[in-house]
Amino acid sequence: MKRFEKLLQENKKWSADQIAKDPEYFKRLAQLQTPEVLWIGCSDSRVPANQITNTEPGEIFVHRNIANLVINNDVNLLSVLDFAVNHLHVKHVIVCGHYGCGGVKAAITNHDFKAVLNMWLRSIKDVYRIHRTELDGIADPEKKENRLVELNVQEQVFNLAKTSIIQRAWQNNQRPHLHGWVYGLKDGLLKPVYEMKPGTHIDPLYEYDDL
Ligand code: CO
Repeated sequence: MKRFEKLLQENKKWSADQIAKDPEYFKRLAQLQTPEVLWIGCSDSRVPANQITNTEPGEIFVHRNIANLVINNDVNLLSVLDFAVNHLHVKHVIVCGHYGCGGVKAAITNHDFKAVLNMWLRSIKDVYRIHRTELDGIADPEKKENRLVELNVQEQVFNLAKTSIIQRAWQNNQRPHLHGWVYGLKDGLLKPVYEMKPGTHIDPLYEYDDL
């Protein structure tokens, strides 16, 4: 059996198992989606949002991209954010990075990954530049890379706070709470590294005064 056929077969089994456990399971889920959390994570196959948080379908609204970046003109990310904040009324947005992130590793090399990937990874190089003093002071390459993973998550939380979507929701609804977490591939544990409560002030340059 081919790999993709196995996926379809396993899906049938999973569906049957769910119904056996709870006959109303799909009926209930199909009627309503009320997740309280938006998860912005890395596309890495080893960091699936639901499994590592032991949550069920319906609990987390998910967006994933390489190295969990919040880019201010990424229509995909912004649509997900807008929908999650203004229609699903999520209370929390979690940016979740992970140690050993291939995107972060790639960004600190000088290798040419060609047009599109160079463009995407550039944002991570920018994070390094902003925090160059701290990062250049770390001699151990793995420790340096791990710290960049944490700082990248922190910068992406800042990037969320810079959007009018978040600023308007903070002003009108005192939500969502922003979190920056890092997942450890080696121990399976999530580590909170940064947070921003609703209404937190950021660099005034980014604060809209006529929302
Ligand atoms: Co990654």
